This record gives sequence, structure tokens and C-alpha cells, in this order.
Amino acid sequence: MRILITGGAGFIGSNFVHYIYNNRPDYHITVLDKLTYAGNLKNIEGLSKDRVNFIKGDICDQSLVEEIVSKVEAVIHFAAESHNDNSLSNPWPFIQTNIVGTYTILEAVKKFDKRLHHISTDEVYGDLELNDPNKFTNTTPYNPSSPYSSSKASSDMLVRAWVRSFKVKATISNCSNNYGPYQHVEKFIPRQITEILEGRKPKLYGNGQNVRDWIHTEDHSSAVLTILEKGTIGETYLIGARGEKNNQQVIELILELMNKPTNYYERVNDRPGHDLRYAIDASKLINELHWQAKYTDFRSGLKSVINWYTKNEAWWKPDKHKTEAKYKELGR
Ligand code: NAD
Ligand code: DAU
Repeated sequence: MRILITGGAGFIGSNFVHYIYNNRPDYHITVLDKLTYAGNLKNIEGLSKDRVNFIKGDICDQSLVEEIVSKVEAVIHFAAESHNDNSLSNPWPFIQTNIVGTYTILEAVKKFDKRLHHISTDEVYGDLELNDPNKFTNTTPYNPSSPYSSSKASSDMLVRAWVRSFKVKATISNCSNNYGPYQHVEKFIPRQITEILEGRKPKLYGNGQNVRDWIHTEDHSSAVLTILEKGTIGETYLIGARGEKNNQQVIELILELMNKPTNYYERVNDRPGHDLRYAIDASKLINELHWQAKYTDFRSGLKSVINWYTKNEAWWKPDKHKTEAKYKELGR
């Protein structure tokens, strides 16, 4: 089996590369990644060149994408601009990569009749009230809030249209917030861990009551592989692991695990349009494809991620200063 993983040098994509490498020895992996600020070749170093081939390039480059897609059997499409705060400062790369890039991938899989799995997010559904008993399901209407989430919603719509109109063999997954190794220091959990490691206080947006539904990135990988191998073409699967926590709870747990007083954090400006709550109902994936999350203990998952950032300062340090300078300008 020859597969193309777009965005395989980013956080979730590189974890998926490792997951496939370790669990499917008969798969040959090609990674296509532009190596934006979020891509890092160190995330996939040390893997055998016989099994993993890296190509630096843009998913919007039609001839490059066609050349690669023609030689593989399936495409797992992770590449995206992924950070909400960045999308509020400059939406253009989100429109280009997330929409035009997905269109380019779709045209290539259509031309060569290849299998596609499109990676999306729960943010396409907008947000929920804190006391809403309902969670997101694959019939929840799309209602995205930010330039990032609306560009991902657009990409999902394109995939659905290409499935219906051109019989493209695609599936979609919408996953909740991931945590794990190799996540860029701009994101919530790595930012707080590295702030503490650098002797500063964690930064909580607004009142800190916003809820995210945390899943370990390895569980995201196992779910994507399950859908790739057992999913029904044209279907959408929601991926989540019952990990709802508000941001204040997460910061307090990080502080406790790092032996700091649990009130050692500061409140900073809120994110404009900040989604209140995400929550995933993954029962379709669990009941129809028999997937199960493995990392259901958030405390021990978080502890191992704290250990990873503590041991891998050389990995995150080069991005830290620039990232904090951007946040400082925003008062966040
Ligand atoms: P990331 O920002 O860490 O990585 C994105 C990768 O895509 C980087 O390696 C980057 O270099 C590459 N890339 C960006 N533009 C490109 C282009 N034009 N051509 C080729 N490569 C390009 O993102 P992530 O957090 O790993 O997210 C991966 C995917 O998962 C995205 O599609 C995102 O929407 C989705 N997702 C993320 C989360 C999360 O919690 N982070 C949750 C659900 C879904
Ligand atoms: O739900 C899936 C989405 O999760 C993915 O589609 C996105 O790619 C991914 O970035 C993530 O989006 P969020 O906006 O939820 O993640 P982020 O890590 O930016 O923030 C998580 C929460 O923490 C959010 O409520 C904002 C808050 N926050 C964030 C930062 C960076 C803080 O309170 N302080 C911070 O310093």
C-alpha cells in the first residue's frame, strides 16, 4: 500500500506518520509538506528512507500534486493552516491552503481515481452552550465562527460535492482538540507548559470557562487508520474521546503536575469570537467501525506530554520567542 500524507511534518500529520510506520510495516509513506512555520522535519527524522519519502512542496501546486497522487493508492490529507489566532490576524493563507489546497487534492484524486481521507475539525459545527445536553454529531448543521473554521468547513463542503458529483472515493473525519508530542508552542497546552519551563506564568484567555474536548493525538491516528481501512465512502465520522475540560481546569492541572501553585497563571485578553464549547459524540465511529480510544486518562496523558516538552527543549525553543512576540502584540 502506497499512501500520501499531506502535512506530515506538522503536529498531527507527523504523529500519524509514526503511527503508520509502527503499525503498518507494509505501507510506504510519501509526505508532502510545505514546511511552513508549523512544519518541522525533525518531527519525522530517523525513519527509514525505504519506507518514508519526504517531498517539500505546496498542496496548491497542481502539477506536483498530480505527479505524486498518480503514484499512490490513497491520500490522507492533513495539510492546513490550523491556528485560530493566526486566522484572525491574517486569513489569506487559510483561504489559500485550506480551500484551494483541498480543491487541488480533490481534482488530483478525481483524475487518477484514488482514495481520499480528508482530515477536518469539530469547529465546523460552531459552538455549544455550557449546559447543552447535545454534542456534535455528523448531522449537526455547519456553523463555523472563525476564518480558520470557516475555511475548514468550506473544504469539507468541497469534499462532499466531489463525492456526490464526481464519485470521488472520499471519507471525512471531524476531530476535537488534540494534545501530544510535536505540537507547536503557539497552541494552548504546549504554550502553557513552555511558559512554565521558561519561568513565566501560563496565559488564560478571558474567563477561562471555554470547554475543549481533548483527545490524545495517537487516538486520532488510530481512528483515522480505522476509517481509511473500514470506513464507508462518502461518510463523515466524528472523532472524540469524552475529554471535555474547561481551560482553567487544564491550566490548573498543568500547574499541579509541574509542582506550581494552581493559581500561578495570568488572565489575558480574550480571543475575538472565541467559541465557548466543543463536545463530540463519536458513537457512529465506535458502533459502526468498532474504534476505541486508548488514552482516556487525561491526567496521565498530560503528564507524559509535560515530560516530552521538558526533555525536548531543543525542539521547541527555536519557535518560542517569535511565538510569544506575536502574542504580546495581541495582548494575549
Ligand atoms: P499543524 O499546523 O501543526 O501542521 C500543518 C502542517 O501542514 C505543517 O507541517 C505545514 O507545514 C503543512 N502545510 C501548511 N500549508 C501547506 C501547504 N500549502 N502545502 C503543504 N503543506 C502545508 O496542524 P495540526 O494541528 O497538525 O492539524 C493537522 C490537521 O488536523 C489540519 O487539517 C487541522 O485542521 C486538523 N485538526 C487539528 C486539530 C488540532 O487539535 N490541532 C483537531 C482537529 C483537526
Ligand atoms: O477543536 C479542534 C481545533 O482545536 C482544531 O481544529 C485547531 O486546529 C486547533 O488549533 C484547536 O483549536 P482551538 O482554538 O480550540 O485550540 P487552541 O490551542 O488555540 O486553544 C484551546 C483553548 O485555549 C481555546 O479555548 C483558547 C484557549 N487559549 C489558547 C491559548 C493559545 C488560552 O486560554 N490561552 C492561550 O494561551
